[in-house]
Amino acid sequence: MRTATISFREIVRPHDPVLTQVRWLYEHTISASERIPWEWLSGSVSAMPWQLRRSHLITAERDTARSNLLGFVTGSYLARYGGYLSYVAVDPRARGRGVGAALYRALIRRLRRSANSLERELPCLVWDSRPPSPSDGPEARVNWERRLHLFKKVGGYWIEGIQFTSPNYLSPQAGDVPLEFFLKPVDDSASDFNEGRLRRIVRGLLKQVYLLDIDGEDGEMLREYAPLRLKRIA
Ligand SMILES: CC(C)(COP(=O)(O)OP(=O)(O)OC[C@H]1O[C@@H](n2cnc3c(N)ncnc32)[C@H](O)[C@@H]1OP(=O)(O)O)[C@@H](O)C(=O)NCCC(=O)NCCS
Repeated sequence: MRTATISFREIVRPHDPVLTQVRWLYEHTISASERIPWEWLSGSVSAMPWQLRRSHLITAERDTARSNLLGFVTGSYLARYGGYLSYVAVDPRARGRGVGAALYRALIRRLRRSANSLERELPCLVWDSRPPSPSDGPEARVNWERRLHLFKKVGGYWIEGIQFTSPNYLSPQAGDVPLEFFLKPVDDSASDFNEGRLRRIVRGLLKQVYLLDIDGEDGEMLREYAPLRLKRIA
């Protein structure tokens, strides 16, 4: 299979048949500890665009008569924040062929259009990811390596110095979820992201996307353990 045979499409209809396959891929390739309920994800995508927040779901599908989902990506543009990638997943049979990287590029193009429609730029794309815990099996560790490989390939950096422990939205009883933050410069360059700006980016994400009171009662979920900086992914 070559990437030339793949089309990328934004899903805008809440009853688009491909959403059944997207849901399956979402629930079978992303661990429960990292997921939000499917209805939240699909609902945010099909919602009427809000002036200051545009959410997008983009699929990669093989060009055949019958829709054949290879992967998807979801993300938002928030006028008072910037670009955020929430989930990306590729069918295990289609991995290692550039679909994941192409989904990143498709999302960035879309978020840039959203930003430009509000007469703004897209300085960067931010996302978070859960590293494996010591009790996770080899599969989780291999997947983490694949993620890091993809993050590096798309030009992403790790935001070193800060760690966030997210609520576990699907199973609160299973405990909170440690997350690391990543950033890809888009309209700005890596050297534009100094410590203060990185701190504002992380805190803005937790306030505007996670809707946490990070300056108040949720403050203990965020831990700074070193000066914040963009670090190349090894
Ligand atoms: C992370 C993920 C999206 C990557 O998708 P992908 O389509 O394989 O990504 P790409 O092909 O663009 O890049 C993968 C890189 O890993 C490399 N790789 C090495 N071993 C691999 C393997 N066994 N399988 C897949 N990729 C492998 C590929 O060669 C490629 O690098 P290269 O272009 O330098 O050769 C995919 O593994 C996935 O869906 N994982 C489960 C869901 C997930 O963890 N999502 C991310 C957090 S929300």
